[in-house]
This record gives sequence, C-alpha cells and structure tokens, in this order.
Amino acid sequence: MSTRPMALTAPRDLVTGNELSTAQIRELFHLSADIKAHPERYRSALAGRFLALIFEKPSLRTRVTFEVGIASLGGTAVFLDHQGTRLGVRESVPDVARNLERWVHGLVARTFCQSTIEELAAHASIPVINALSDRFHPCQALADFFTLEEHFRNLRGLKLAYVGDGNNVCHSLLLTGARLGACLRIATPKGYEPDAAVVAEARCIARDSCARIEILHDPAEAVTQAQAVYTDVWASMGQEAETAVREKIFAPYQVNEALLALAAPDAVFLHCLPAHRGQEVTSGVLDSPRSLVYEQAENRLHVQKAILLALLG
Ligand code: CP
Ligand code: NVA
Repeated sequence: MSTRPMALTAPRDLVTGNELSTAQIRELFHLSADIKAHPERYRSALAGRFLALIFEKPSLRTRVTFEVGIASLGGTAVFLDHQGTRLGVRESVPDVARNLERWVHGLVARTFCQSTIEELAAHASIPVINALSDRFHPCQALADFFTLEEHFRNLRGLKLAYVGDGNNVCHSLLLTGARLGACLRIATPKGYEPDAAVVAEARCIARDSCARIEILHDPAEAVTQAQAVYTDVWASMGQEAETAVREKIFAPYQVNEALLALAAPDAVFLHCLPAHRGQEVTSGVLDSPRSLVYEQAENRLHVQKAILLALLG
C-alpha cells in the first residue's frame, strides 16, 4: 500500500485509548471495514516490519488476532512470554524498551499494571499498543463499538448497559462510548464501580459528543430498554484470590434470560470473552441468537489490523 492508511494524523501510541479523537475512531472504523471486506489489498502493508508481543498474562483472542493480523499484513510478530519472568524483574522496563526499539518497529503489551505500558511507551521511540492492562483494554472496546455499528448502523444515542465489575473493559467502554456519543448505563455492586477518574474523563468527553453516562447499582434499571447488554468476568486476571468473595457479591448481576427480557426487543448481548458460563452469564444468553460475542472476537482481528496500520503504516 502506498496510500496513507489514515488521512488524520494518528497518535504514536495506543496506551489508554483516550489518545484517539472521535474523528480518528471514525476513520479507524472506516479502515477496519475496508480491511474486513478486502484483506487482499493490505497483504504487504507491513512488509519488512517486526512487532514484539509482550504478554505478562494469558490470552487467546488478543494474542491470536495480533499474530494473525501482523502476518496477514506481511509483517512478523515476535512473541515474548513474560508469564515466568515479569518485566522489570530480570531487566528494568526502560531497559527492555531501549533494547526492543533497536530491533522492532512496534510493541504490543499485555501487562498487570497500566504503569508498565506507560513506562514502555515513555522509553521506546516506537509505537506501543495496550493489549490489556489492569486499567484499560482499548483494542477490545474499539472492536466492540465497531461490532455494534455493524449491527445497528448508528452509535449515536445507542443504549448500552454494562452489568458487572467496573473493570478495565468497563473503563475502555466508557471512554470509547463517550467519544462515539453512546448512552452508557453501568450497573455494579457498591464498591466495584468504575474508577472515579475514568468516569470523570468520560463525562468530560461526553459534553462534546452528547453521550450520556450513568453509574448505577441496580442491574434491572441499567438493562431496561437497553439495545446492547454487556458483561465481563467478575474476577479479572490478577484478582483470582478474590474469586470466592466476588462470586457472592456479584451473583445478583448475572446476565440471564430474565434480566435480558427487560432490554429492548431487538437487544444484543456482548461479552469480551473468556466467559464463565453460569456465573456472569448463562449459557442460554451466551449461545442465543442475540449474542454477538463471536462477531466481537472476529472483529478484534480487523480492527487491530487497522490500529497497526494507523500507528505503523
Ligand atoms: N477478550 C480478550 O482480550 O481475550 P483474551 O484474554 O483471550 O486475549
Ligand atoms: N476483565 C478481564 C478481561 C479479559 C479479556 C480481565 O482483565 O481478566
């Protein structure tokens, strides 16, 4: 491809997801749709480029979609399994960044702490992409809203209810949904709300986009008349020790057939996966025709290819 993938100047990094303006997200979705429809046009878009994938936590979707995505753009992924040797233990994070930038053209990092990704970005002169941290999962939220736009055509005013833990996925849905003018209702148990600073940032963005942000505790109130109902695991990676306690606290927040019946008649169900069947969602909902979870998973591939092109193309 000799043409520039994005007419607007893309940010260097995707560390929080908040680097992208509404116009840049719109352009990214346009590129994602073209990549999805015509993958052959982009076969050598990253020819001769190398990306390091640093994963401190397990992954199915993110790892496979980045590896397949990079290969299908003509680039090469180098996977670094940091589950055994955490970043900053054998070698400092800045030193890892200063080495990698000499060999590869970009970093994709899944870390326990958001600060590790920010430290990599601060010390590497190459693009750094957040592949999930304790605080954000920007690639997921971008793929999710792309999926919702495919389904509903219009995201402005779209009523999305998120039920469960105010976690990394919830934070990224808030920031991306705010940019895109969605109406977001979040229902969490008390004490598990999304971080106040992220909510404040989303509300600040919402002033320009006419998005609406409501933080609630009643799942029924959040889901009533929603067009999309989203949930995620109750205990995220790194919180395994809290699993038993959380199972009790989150039980009333299960997305089941009765809860989904309160949503709009054409409502869809979303989950970033992996799902814990019988916990945050019943198999009846997950496997129902309303479920878009495998569309979301597929779109991770197309949207991340667009992100790679925007940042490295
Ligand atoms: N949704 C998601 O990021 O899945 P993985 O943890 O399998 O990458
Ligand atoms: N909130 C989950 C998302 C997994 C894709 C976690 O961080 O484990």
